[in-house]
Amino acid sequence: VLEAVGTPPDIAGVVSGSLIDANLAGMDSHGVIRIPRYVGYVRSGKVLPAARASVVSRSGATAKVDGAWGWGQPAAYLGLECALELASENGVGCATVARCNHIGRLGQYLERIAEANMVGMAMCNSIPAVAPFGGSTRVLGTNPIAFSAPRGESVPPIVVDFATAASAEGKLLMARAKGERLPRGVLLNIEGQPSTDPQDFYTGGALLTFGQHKGYGLSIIVEAIAGLLSGAGASCLPEYDGGNGTLFVAFDIGSFVPLDRFISQCEAMCAAIQASPPAPGFTDVVLPGGPEAEARKRRSTEGIPLPAQVWDEIKTTAEQAGVAADSFAAVL
Ligand SMILES: NC(=O)c1ccc[n+]([C@@H]2O[C@H](COP(=O)([O-])OP(=O)(O)OC[C@H]3O[C@@H](n4cnc5c(N)ncnc54)[C@H](O)[C@@H]3O)[C@@H](O)[C@H]2O)c1
Repeated sequence: VLEAVGTPPDIAGVVSGSLIDANLAGMDSHGVIRIPRYVGYVRSGKVLPAARASVVSRSGATAKVDGAWGWGQPAAYLGLECALELASENGVGCATVARCNHIGRLGQYLERIAEANMVGMAMCNSIPAVAPFGGSTRVLGTNPIAFSAPRGESVPPIVVDFATAASAEGKLLMARAKGERLPRGVLLNIEGQPSTDPQDFYTGGALLTFGQHKGYGLSIIVEAIAGLLSGAGASCLPEYDGGNGTLFVAFDIGSFVPLDRFISQCEAMCAAIQASPPAPGFTDVVLPGGPEAEARKRRSTEGIPLPAQVWDEIKTTAEQAGVAADSFAAVL
């Protein structure tokens, strides 16, 4: 479908790979549900499907990437590779990406940093969708923030990856598609009143930040670091470029402490944390990154369940792009 709307095959592979991997990791909000919206971005001119990102400058341990308003994921992967390379040369590597469309789930990049045996950090801002703590209208992006640390070879890395909003917007999309209500404390309607109806977001409501003033504080700092430092701008200002202003930082562990000591201490830390007896209502203590690794193992063999409405919308989008739905329905 992405190729049918003008994406070169190599880029289409990166973007579709990112969406499918999000589904495999159990993060359906960032999976193939996005296909109709992504095709819409091409039709409206927001995404230039054949544009290629490039490194515009490198200085010391830093690099700047221009996404050229092509697909966000390849631009983000270029920024990530710069950060990794700079970290191997300098001990720490930092790259920003601007003029960059939706980069998807941050965890995919953080997993790659952990695979390179480095410690990682990433964040990005996004279009205003979230009220500030104490406010009622959209002035902040959902502004995810993510970190990763490698563990031993046969265990998944620690990956902490979430929106500073009480929910990623994609989860509202999923809830709406399934006809589900939201928990309280996630959303205000257009009148600024608490709501549990995901549709209220799409008629002018605002998400809240998680953890009251804490998520709010983190969200502001994502605007300052990922938005302003990348040159994308803060999402509440007229200069904001409208994309995911993104920052990646990679730390080469060996430049700080011996890698094997870090890994063994990280394992000991995880074991100590997981030794805590489960609280009432829990069966075990889960580590961040664990749920995604579990889902990937299960869904790689069992497949990815999709709500019928999502599948129908993908089929309609495919047909409108000139791809016969029966040419891919066979994979079901
Ligand atoms: N590109 C963008 O513009 C954009 C904007 C917002 C969010 N996002 C992405 O949306 C995705 C979803 O965000 P979210 O806020 O809904 O995330 P979430 O609330 O689902 O939290 C996910 C994180 O929590 C961890 N986790 C889940 N259950 C756990 C448990 N029981 N114990 C310990 N850790 C646990 C996961 O391993 C993961 O690190 C993220 O991947 C984020 O990067 C992207």
